[in-house]
Amino acid sequence: MSGIYQLALFDASPGTVLVVDDDAQVRGLLVALLRPRGYQVETAASAEEAQERLKTLRPDVLLLDLHLPGKSGQDVLAHLRADPVTRLLPIIMITGGATGEERLRAMAEGVTDFVAKPFAAEELLARLKSLVQMKRFTDALEHAEHVIVALARAIDARDPYTARHSERVSTYAGRLGAATGLTGLDLEAVRRGGLFHDIGKIAIRDAVLLKPARLTPEEFAEIRRHPVVGRELLSGMKTLAFALDVVYGHHERLDGSGYPDGVAGESIPLTARVTTIADIYDALTTARVYRAALTRAEALTIMGEEARRGWWDPRLLDVFRGVLEGIPEDVARVPNDI
Ligand SMILES: [Fe+2]
Repeated sequence: MSGIYQLALFDASPGTVLVVDDDAQVRGLLVALLRPRGYQVETAASAEEAQERLKTLRPDVLLLDLHLPGKSGQDVLAHLRADPVTRLLPIIMITGGATGEERLRAMAEGVTDFVAKPFAAEELLARLKSLVQMKRFTDALEHAEHVIVALARAIDARDPYTARHSERVSTYAGRLGAATGLTGLDLEAVRRGGLFHDIGKIAIRDAVLLKPARLTPEEFAEIRRHPVVGRELLSGMKTLAFALDVVYGHHERLDGSGYPDGVAGESIPLTARVTTIADIYDALTTARVYRAALTRAEALTIMGEEARRGWWDPRLLDVFRGVLEGIPEDVARVPNDI
């Protein structure tokens, strides 16, 4: 087990539980059951109060009554699942006389578990314990991903000319991916993959990475290894597996003249081709040691010529021209979509 996982799992406290129920008696019962066992218990009597509490409270588990006055438990559930911060929060729905249909709807909305009133205390405690543990695992994974992103930012910052490069690539690639019709994990792959596509540059020496003069063949070989190193670095993380194609393939060219494998055409995953367009565009429109930043029109002209030469996917480049109309040309103003 890695240090990061140990760190997050080291928290030995039973956990924090938010109880959302309009019935004061039920709230009191749960508090009386959980507090003596070491849980930190907070309560809310309505959906609105729960949403207010969740602005500051980060519970490990939410116990949510299905039938609330005003906004229902279903509404709270849908709201929480749409918010990236609470997307993975374990939610146990407390059901009194729930119909089969209501339970099915809750499952479709992403409820984690159900408990029926009246509670069997031992059963509820057992479920809570395992869900808190699950929450700590997902927190640890999320934490690990934040470390990777922080590392990618640090790599950009090694070279003052590439500061915030990865964030912009993520934004451009995400917008282009969506416009191309990518959805789900593929869209997530270009957004997340854009962020850490150059993570393998960690293995390139400053003397090479920041060299203001022409690279020797050996130095260029060192640069060309960064997609391979990047994939090696991330391949141990199952949660990032979906983005490895982007990391590995973002320097391939359509005609097979790219690296690391020199694969051509549709053998290059679409997610990688999308990210390449974003990467090249950002490199051209930001200043480098050896040249000033190009304007959008200049960059698109060069990329158009390179697409005709067979390097980039011309169809994607056409879509990208349209996408850019919705993004400011000044790189300092490119929105951060992360
Ligand atoms: Fe790269």
